[in-house]
Amino acid sequence: MSPISLRRRRPVAGYALIGSALLLIGLIYALITTGQSAAASSPSPSQQAQISQGRAIFVEECASCHGLFAQGIPRVGPSLIGVGSAAVNFQVSSGRMPAKEPVAEMPQKPVALNPQQIKALGTYIQSLGGGPVTPSAAMVSQTGANPGIGQQLFVADCAQCHNFVGAGGALTYGKYAPPLTNATPTQIYEAMLTGPEAMPVFNNTTITPQQKRDIIAYVVQTRSEPNPGGFSLGRIGPVTEGLVAFLGLLLFMVFAALWITAKHGKSHE
Ligand code: HEC
Ligand code: HEC
Repeated sequence: MSPISLRRRRPVAGYALIGSALLLIGLIYALITTGQSAAASSPSPSQQAQISQGRAIFVEECASCHGLFAQGIPRVGPSLIGVGSAAVNFQVSSGRMPAKEPVAEMPQKPVALNPQQIKALGTYIQSLGGGPVTPSAAMVSQTGANPGIGQQLFVADCAQCHNFVGAGGALTYGKYAPPLTNATPTQIYEAMLTGPEAMPVFNNTTITPQQKRDIIAYVVQTRSEPNPGGFSLGRIGPVTEGLVAFLGLLLFMVFAALWITAKHGKSHE
């Protein structure tokens, strides 16, 4: 084969490869989107009624901050498309939403809506773009959950913010991790699924549904335990020591910078 025909053949093969790759991507995309729209376009009549009730509540209570179509308003409220009914149930059932005014961390107030209204709101938001769903009673049940495993997971994943006994602690920028003394099992599950505010999301791959139940069992169990004296020290909050170390390091760096520039200036004289 001459070098020329070799060179000619390569671009053709390249185009063919790109072409078939594009075709494959297109096919997969079409398959996924038709699957989704088939699922989304067939809500049952009772669901339909919930969606329209939820939409009406949304327009009245939430649209002023989250936009008329939950698309979000810059610097006022985030988009709620894709946050799922779990986020809605967590935020509203804990009294965080509807917020009164934007602050660093939404304070918990008396719950403004009844469970049926919250469910309708969740179904409406869910219909807009999916997202994590409110767990069923069976999913948060503590029968068959292991609080011992839950404790290990809690220490590894939650204690750095919520403290070892779930007592909460201060975070940066006026935020704080609340004590876990009041959250219901459903809210604990939803907090992990949706990661409110500064809390990370723990999806079902990071922490499996069974592990979530173990954690819930541990959190609920610590509530009934008397406070062991030695633990109280830890309740100051994990951030304090870190902050002191950080400020010390910062101060050191400022002095180092001053020293270097002073030296530098001298060598130029
Ligand atoms: C006064 C403005 C305001 C109102 C009214 C309001 N929100 Fe919010 N909402 C916010 C802000 C700001 C945030 C982001 C801060 C945060 O996450 O705490 C937020 C966050 C949320 C989140 C979390 C989103 C996520 O990514 O997890 C949900 C869910 C939510 N709101 C639902 C609602 C619902 C439902 C209503 C009506 C019942 C409502 N909000 C009313 C301002 C508002
Ligand atoms: C990076 C810090 C951080 C980590 C790690 C973290 N959280 Fe949180 N968590 C927060 C913050 C901040 C809030 C408050 C969010 C808000 O008010 O919007 C919160 C709120 C919660 C709430 C709601 C409490 C209430 O009374 O409404 C629960 C429940 C919760 N977290 C459970 C957990 C669990 C379980 C884990 C471990 C799997 C965990 N968190 C890991 C920071 C954290």
